[in-house]
Amino acid sequence: MVREQISAIGGRTTRWLESGGTNAGRALVWLHAFPLGADMWRPQLETVPDGWRMIAPDLAGFGGSTDHADHPSIDDFAHDLDNFAHHLGLRHFVLGGLSMGGYAVFAYLRLNPSRVKGIVLADTKSGADTPQAREGRQKMLDLVAAKGVAGVADEMLPKLLGASTQRANPALTAHVRAIIDANSAEGVSRSIQRLRDRPDSTPLLSRLAIPALVIVGEEDGITPVADARAMSNALPESMLAVVPDAGHLTNLEAPEAFAAALKPWLAAL
Ligand code: MLT
Repeated sequence: MVREQISAIGGRTTRWLESGGTNAGRALVWLHAFPLGADMWRPQLETVPDGWRMIAPDLAGFGGSTDHADHPSIDDFAHDLDNFAHHLGLRHFVLGGLSMGGYAVFAYLRLNPSRVKGIVLADTKSGADTPQAREGRQKMLDLVAAKGVAGVADEMLPKLLGASTQRANPALTAHVRAIIDANSAEGVSRSIQRLRDRPDSTPLLSRLAIPALVIVGEEDGITPVADARAMSNALPESMLAVVPDAGHLTNLEAPEAFAAALKPWLAAL
């Protein structure tokens, strides 16, 4: 059963979903993609392995979590996660992130690596935005200002979901749109700035002496297989899983294949 929780933590309201026993020995915290929210992790939370606790927060400014007042930075997510882990009494945990969630994983590893026992990097990349990508962020900021979150959903949905999913599972498009629509224009806009200004995490990779699972959809056009492979090769202890017939949102598009990569990896930790 997936439980929804809301609490005041570190001066902000945080909403999160969780499943598994609160006394389970091992915890996995999932960080979501842009511009979605914790609900994207429901397929994983609904099939939590025995002995594990899974927790998925809405990151600052998304869903039911309030944002910071000052200038947005990807490091906000790392500081929030540290407060969140402290609040939940999590001394050590596995940290997983998809796309923007992966950028937040890197930010946390810069802040407090000692708590992290392993990482799942799904459909993400270590590099910073190129000058061209930064221009794209400005266009996206203009789009939110002009058309709100619905404009961003229209623009991003065809890129988030792979061609196979769009053909075979139109209901998933509607589901992802509903998760996106739960966000405010201001929160989305502030996280576009976080994405645009994030640093290059590539130099961190070779220093990460923890097990890593890299997952990528074969049809992912936002963070392609080549980026995932390069990241996996640069990590000292990494396994790469390429998921067929899935685009950028592998955990939603192909939850069984996602679990088939995740569960044995978790069991071997
Ligand atoms: C995401 O899925 O989180 C975003 O597409 C990441 C990005 O735009 O860099």
